[in-house]
Amino acid sequence: MAKITFITSDNEEIVAEATSGTVMELAKENNVNGIDGDCGGVCSCATCHVHVAEEDFEKVGAPGEIEADMLELEDNYNERSRLCCQIDMSDAIDGVTLYVAN
Ligand code: FES
Repeated sequence: MAKITFITSDNEEIVAEATSGTVMELAKENNVNGIDGDCGGVCSCATCHVHVAEEDFEKVGAPGEIEADMLELEDNYNERSRLCCQIDMSDAIDGVTLYVAN
């Protein structure tokens, strides 16, 4: 079981937890504003863009090659950007905070 805190662009804080699936699916299930997941999680829409909190980035890890290419096209891209459909829920990411980029 991992617990994730989402901070939306309106500064709303949503805490949600799950044992499986992806972070994008968790965000959708919990109606996190700004995470649309339009492509269903196949890394081709970037509507699940988040910025990982600085202190948590090591836990979450860097994007893969295809994900990084998608992210570089995003206006809000920064060095802590991830597409959250590419982050699997697991104990390894318990407690991380993600800022919705869209
Ligand atoms: S849901 Fe489309 S890139 Fe993540």
